[in-house]
Amino acid sequence: MSELSNLEQIDITGKKVFLRVDFNVPLIEGKIISDIRILEAIPTIKLILSKGAAVIIGSHLGRPKGKIIPELSISPIANILKQHLQLPNVMVASDVIGESAISLSTKLLPGDVMFVENLRFESGEETNDAEMAKVLASMADVFVNDAFSCSHRAHSSVLGITSFLPSVAGLSMQKEIDMLNKVLKKPIKPVTAIVGGSKISTKLAILEHLIEKVDHMIIGGAMANTFLFANGYSVGKSLFESDMLETARNILKEAQLKSCSISLPKDAMVAEDLENKEGIETVDVERVPEEKMILDIGPRTSRVISRVFSQSKTLLWNGPLGVFETKPFDTGTILAAKSVAKLTNKGSLISVAGGGDTLAALDMAGVMEGFSHVSTGGGAFLEWLKGDSLPGIEALIINRSKDI
Ligand code: 3PG
Repeated sequence: MSELSNLEQIDITGKKVFLRVDFNVPLIEGKIISDIRILEAIPTIKLILSKGAAVIIGSHLGRPKGKIIPELSISPIANILKQHLQLPNVMVASDVIGESAISLSTKLLPGDVMFVENLRFESGEETNDAEMAKVLASMADVFVNDAFSCSHRAHSSVLGITSFLPSVAGLSMQKEIDMLNKVLKKPIKPVTAIVGGSKISTKLAILEHLIEKVDHMIIGGAMANTFLFANGYSVGKSLFESDMLETARNILKEAQLKSCSISLPKDAMVAEDLENKEGIETVDVERVPEEKMILDIGPRTSRVISRVFSQSKTLLWNGPLGVFETKPFDTGTILAAKSVAKLTNKGSLISVAGGGDTLAALDMAGVMEGFSHVSTGGGAFLEWLKGDSLPGIEALIINRSKDI
């Protein structure tokens, strides 16, 4: 996006860069189970170093809420980065804005890499404390934000720091913004959105924003049950939101006014419950048995969806179409994901997906690489889908006039 200055455009020779990344990686019993977020930041780190600058890296990990929790130290992550960069020395301060960080930062030479500790060990991080931002800024000459997935947080290391330093976007941030603009701000039409997941109530703002923007919306997941019930279908034992029926009808009416055609499931895979696989059957949505629940879309719906994809030029995806964590109710989501990846591969579709569950589903379908772009943002991606501006990105736009 041209409104932002980015790292490629600035001269940082001999300078120190404070780089905000999102190394908030998933941990299970202290083990890092995905290093995607670390890999994403490597091109930016390499570019900073190749431009003859030193880099001070800051990230949060988990939600320690201003307390020092040793299990959430950034040290193991710094080690992983060190291995990927094949650098002999990646320094890690034992604090965030204390003596250790400040004294290490004063000694940095071009090409050096240092980490401050988990930013959320400081209570000032989440309150956007100006003093904390000032100390972080005092260690560097330039701020680079490469953490799209944290940019919905008005925190010291995301927002506050931009008041004290010239601030630009990193490569991963720039790529993310470019792709997101491509699908919603300047999309090639027709545009289709897939919105799935369990509840209308949590995605209401997203649905309302998207019907203004897209030509076609496919609704799946348990949220589709509420729409079906609102349209007069009996959905058996399926989950649905009884207090959202009027809202669902209004969304359908509004979509019609905005010329956004909505696809609801035509058939469904149903069962007595998630565990009882014996009673699984596929039925038309007019015929969902009283004692069964909808757990996935059916094959007829999959075919309809596939046709919609082939008539679209741009596709945006948030939320699975069924209970994809339990087989065989992953079938609809996986078929749809594969069909999107195939069209993307052929060059006839630009496809962007985001949100925690969605990424897990695409990963299961083995098509993460098959999409034009998969957003790193969970909460940030959802905020952006609602049409909200993200404070971390706004700050970079305002800051662009500052001299670097
Ligand atoms: C994320 O994982 O989505 C980001 O790192 C933000 O984390 P948070 O929800 O704890 O602010």
